[in-house]
Parts: sequence; C-alpha cells; structure tokens
Amino acid sequence: MFIELQNVTKIYGKDEYATKALSQVSLQIERGEFISIMGPSGSGKSTLLNIIGCMDVPTEGVYRLEGEDVTRLNDRQLSDIRNKKVSFIFQQFALMTNFTVFENVELPLLKRNMSKKERREKVEYYLNKLGIFHLRQKNVSKLSGGQKQRVAIARAMVAETNIVLADEPTGSLDRQNGEKVMELLQQMNEEGKCIIVITHDEKIASYANRMIYLSDGCIQLDKGKG
Ligand SMILES: Nc1ncnc2c1ncn2[C@@H]1O[C@H](COP(=O)(O)OP(=O)(O)OP(=O)(O)O)[C@@H](O)[C@H]1O
Ligand SMILES: [Mg+2]
Repeated sequence: MFIELQNVTKIYGKDEYATKALSQVSLQIERGEFISIMGPSGSGKSTLLNIIGCMDVPTEGVYRLEGEDVTRLNDRQLSDIRNKKVSFIFQQFALMTNFTVFENVELPLLKRNMSKKERREKVEYYLNKLGIFHLRQKNVSKLSGGQKQRVAIARAMVAETNIVLADEPTGSLDRQNGEKVMELLQQMNEEGKCIIVITHDEKIASYANRMIYLSDGCIQLDKGKG
C-alpha cells in the first residue's frame, strides 16, 4: 500500500489542555489517487494532511508510507522523506516573500544534487508550463493572488514528488482562478501523482475521484465517484 494509516490518533497539548484532533483514523490510499477532504472547521483536516505529509507524527497508531513505518523515524529522517516524496500547496501560498518567482520555484531543488544549469532548465520548464515565465524576476510580493498560487504550484511541480498535498489551495482565490488551480492539480494527477486536497467547496471537491468527510477527528464518509 502506498499510504496507510492504522488507528491514528493525534492529541495536541496535555492534561486539561489536551485536544484530540484525530481519533483512531484508519485509511488506505493507492498511488495516483486524487482525493478531496471535506468537513467542518476544527474536524482535523489539516492535522490529517500534515501527518500524511510527514510534517507531524501521530500520538498513537501507525503511519506507513510506501511500506515504511514513519512513526519510527527521527526528525532528520522525516525531513528527508518530506524533501523526496511530498510537496505542499497552501491557501496563503507560503512563498518566500522577499524572493523572486524564479528563486521561489528553485527552492526545492537546492537540497538536491544538481548543477546550477540543471536547476535553471528545470525551473524555466515549469515556469513556461504555468505561463509565468515572464514574471520570473519579479518579487512574489508584487503578484496577484492567482499568480502567487501558480508560483506555489510551479514549486510543487518542480520537486517532482509523487505526493502533492494542498490545504485549501483555492480558499483565497476567485472562482475562475480556483478552477484553474484545480485543472493544474488534475493534470498532475493524470501524470500519475497522488493528489490530496482539503476544501470547503463541493464544486472544488468534485475534481477528485474520492471524497473523505471528517467530523470530530473521525472519518464519517469515504466514497468514490459514481
Ligand atoms: N498546533 C496545535 N496545537 C493545539 N491544538 C491544535 C493545533 N493544531 C490544531 N489543533 C486543534 O486540533 C483540532 C483540529 O484542527 P485542524 O487544524 O486539523 O482542523 P481543520 O479541519 O483543518 O479546520 P479548518 O477548516 O478550520 O482549517 C482543532 O480543535 C484545533 O484547535
Ligand atoms: Mg485546516
């Protein structure tokens, strides 16, 4: 199995401050799936995505990524897995504000063993693919919301990871830009990537082939299309 959670519980804080964000969640995801996660605010969606992306670890239970028990790894090993296997896209874009478009997209490649020329070619390929090549020297703080999200998607694409996780990627965009973002994620899925998108919007969720509905830290519904 590609992604496998077994009875995963996540508790933040201690004693009287303890919050159970996930409660005994079990979930299996295959390579190349396109999944949307929905549910009320506070239901544990971001927590689940962060655990899948190795940004956080379960309090109880087991998480296996490509057969490897991630719960046994140390911080360094976790960060290594993140770099190699996972890309994130966020609602607020999470770009490096004082850097150019080019520099932001180049970021994931700096940790790889690549020459400057190789990096430039790859970055330029994806900037072209997303129609933002002309913006490459611009400071990202000068871009529109739609443009910023394209930069964040280019950054996720350039990493060429098999898992792309998006936490409300269309949440701060208008409908038209939101749909463009979903079309790009759909393209990545057609190229074989596993895409998981958190959204509050039914229409956005319908781009996915499987919908998981969370409530109070539990999976209430898990259904495929059609
Ligand atoms: N770092 C943290 N420390 C303490 N509690 C946290 C932390 N992160 C999340 N929580 C709590 O865990 C629960 C689940 O939070 P989570 O962010 O996963 O919800 P969500 O479904 O993504 O909500 P939203 O739709 O508002 O983004 C909430 O009660 C939240 O307050
Ligand atoms: Mg959230």
